[in-house]
Amino acid sequence: MLEKIKEVVNEINAFGNKKPIKIISHFDTDGITSAAIFSRALQRAGIKFSLEITKNLTPEFLEKLPEEKNLIFLDLASNSLDYLAKKKTSVIILDHHEISQNIPENVTMINPQLFGEENCSSAAICYLFAKTLSEKNIDLANLAVIGMVGDQMEKNLTKTYDSILKDSETQIRRGLLLYPATRPLDKVLEYSSGMYIPEVTGSFQGVISLLREAGIEKTSSGFKSLSELTEEEMSRLITSIVLKKSSQSDSPNIVGNIFLTKFFNKIEDVREISALINACSRMGFSQSALGFCLGNKNSKKEAERIYTRYRQNISSALKYVTEAEKIIGKNYTIINARDKIKDTIIGTVASIMSFSPLYPKGTIIIGMAYDQDKIKISARISGESEKNVREILHRAVIPISGEVGGHPAAAGALIPKEKESVFLNELRSILDVEIVKPRSTNV
Ligand code: C5P
Repeated sequence: MLEKIKEVVNEINAFGNKKPIKIISHFDTDGITSAAIFSRALQRAGIKFSLEITKNLTPEFLEKLPEEKNLIFLDLASNSLDYLAKKKTSVIILDHHEISQNIPENVTMINPQLFGEENCSSAAICYLFAKTLSEKNIDLANLAVIGMVGDQMEKNLTKTYDSILKDSETQIRRGLLLYPATRPLDKVLEYSSGMYIPEVTGSFQGVISLLREAGIEKTSSGFKSLSELTEEEMSRLITSIVLKKSSQSDSPNIVGNIFLTKFFNKIEDVREISALINACSRMGFSQSALGFCLGNKNSKKEAERIYTRYRQNISSALKYVTEAEKIIGKNYTIINARDKIKDTIIGTVASIMSFSPLYPKGTIIIGMAYDQDKIKISARISGESEKNVREILHRAVIPISGEVGGHPAAAGALIPKEKESVFLNELRSILDVEIVKPRSTNV
């Protein structure tokens, strides 16, 4: 892959400033950090460009792309090659998603799947590009670490990541996967939505008694943060939480690597930065997230305000889910939020529902929310299961001209709004017969 990256560096240097460059990047954390790395590297090299962040590549979006510009796609487009073949201009793609079509002549692609290499996030590919362009870009490595965590690739630290983590001087410590690891433990335990601990999450008294059980004392300046705990304190805390969670039939792994990196001159938990970037984009403020990644102080203030609003949005969406009428079947729950929940957060809401002890293991959760003239659908499964929600969505969505993607345990789709009731009827009849069906890999 490094050889191909060198070719792309030469290709972009050859573009010079003769024909303008347009960069298009995805709106999630990996896409935003990719855009920040790539654009900073071009700017330092004196190469001019324009940049657009997008939620997805629709046929209408692709149609409008200017042919008088060289097009560079980051963290998307591996699935849009047939469209791009029609463009009378050079196209460069740095992406890691599945390639489902032939690579056309006008397209140069860097995607680890082409080189038989282990998957890595797009921000990692952009960082390798930036470092090949100039060694000075080594200061962009922490953005690549944020992209890695954003796409949940930190569980498998490959050789590529070893070197990026070294360049970024990220500190890694084994511990409880509760974030941010840099804030006082009592607050993080009480307000965490990512890890449900019976009798502790949401309960101040529960938090205090858990910390007492674990022998973690309050100091004169309050409780320590996770990153400040000694090895022994961390181990006692994990044991106390495991004991509390043992009543849950199917707890996900609560221990893993905590990544701490310098951002705006302060040590931060990479998971928290990733969540903040993701939140900005989902609230429609990708530019603030990008400015934040590029070190702009005003963008940082704005991004923090948006992150607070996002958390409030999620909590009202969860309240809505509790109170709203749901379609409940034997092994599934469908929540059709229409315009009550943003299309960009319905996936997060479905994920939180799938972690909740309210839904027994194997329950299929389907969330639906309006997105202009379309409906965004997010499907998840509670706990480990053999069921394949991508296949289920595929069967209901393809006959009504929708698009589907994702994985067996977490998939998404987009359908025309006028097909709402057709989709619901078809989906329910598929789910009603889908009691215990093994995973299939043919979709
Ligand atoms: O959008 P949502 O969060 O529900 O998506 C779940 C998973 O499916 C994500 O990994 C997303 O990238 C993927 N997906 C996809 N193509 C779509 C919709 C979702 O690959 N059209």
